[in-house]
Amino acid sequence: MNQLAVHVDLALPPANLRRRVSDLWSLVEEDMESVERRLTESMDSPIGRIPEVGSHLLGAGGKRLRPLLAVLVARAGGCDVAAAVAAGCAAELIHSATLFHDDVVDGGSVRRGRPAARMIYGNGLAVLVGDFCLARGLDLVAATGSIVMVRTLAATVTEMAEGEVAQLEGAGNPDVTIASYLQVVDRKTASLMAWCARVGGLLPGALDGPLGRYGRALGRAFQIADDILDCAAGESTTGKSGGRDLQEGKLTLPVLLACESDRALRARIREGLRAAGMAAETAQTILLAVRTAGGVERARKRALALTEEAIAELVVLPASPYREALAELARLAVDRVA
Ligand code: IPE
Ligand code: IPE
Ligand code: MG
Ligand code: MG
Repeated sequence: MNQLAVHVDLALPPANLRRRVSDLWSLVEEDMESVERRLTESMDSPIGRIPEVGSHLLGAGGKRLRPLLAVLVARAGGCDVAAAVAAGCAAELIHSATLFHDDVVDGGSVRRGRPAARMIYGNGLAVLVGDFCLARGLDLVAATGSIVMVRTLAATVTEMAEGEVAQLEGAGNPDVTIASYLQVVDRKTASLMAWCARVGGLLPGALDGPLGRYGRALGRAFQIADDILDCAAGESTTGKSGGRDLQEGKLTLPVLLACESDRALRARIREGLRAAGMAAETAQTILLAVRTAGGVERARKRALALTEEAIAELVVLPASPYREALAELARLAVDRVA
């Protein structure tokens, strides 16, 4: 497959994609407005530049997929919507904390179409305001009075930290396997999506397992799609730096699948990896080989299969526009350009 064909395959019209996300949003508009209000309130502090640094990231938008997930599930499953709004806000704040930290760890320079917070305020403030966001998220969940939510969230944040550490420690290893890649994805991304889809463990017993599996599968598909975009799209499309994963020494699914069909590729990657990662030019050459070997296409197929797995779990919910929206959200996790 040539470069152009891959590009066409991935590039849904952005306007079309935006319309589909806002369709889902409008179904739960009031709930999402409460989410936005509470997110803004959460950045309030009398200390220094906390509100400014916090708003730099939170005010830059973002897809708000995690709160959308929690609220749609609560509406579809007849669960406490106020608790879902709290869970969604907490998840968005924890997600924001991980983005502040992630850009420090990954050396990311662009986030949500803006310079990453660390580029303006430095690593110290970015890390500390990330901690502030995490604390504010925990506080929102504690305020619900639900020990179940607190405990499930603690387990989720633990998983996320483990995922980020496993990924950092695996960076630069040319022999990384698909199994270890999937473990990282599961922990760093899918765990929080699953927590949102379970509304923090508050769903009726018969829904908890299936919706947890829906969130996990959606989260896996979502991160694979993110890794595909890093291989195949530019900053102007995604609002964050592209081609970074290989430069950071991270072998993602498209690369690993390409190594299965192009036997010489692993050796080329080993050769190109240095202690600090891979030079940008070398990474671009490798990525071209990844696309040529069909790595992007095969990764996309895996992501689409996960989407179908996610959607199949929704059968436990009664038919409603909310259930349809959850199915569409799973599709959007893969069919997106940002
Ligand atoms: C980015 O998440 C980090 C990943 C888990 C890939 P999103 O793509 O949900 O980021 P925003 O919130 O929309 O910016
Ligand atoms: C984002 O991971 C942070 C977490 C999921 C905890 P990535 O490093 O893969 O995401 P981007 O590409 O920088 O958004
Ligand atoms: Mg990262
Ligand atoms: Mg990153």
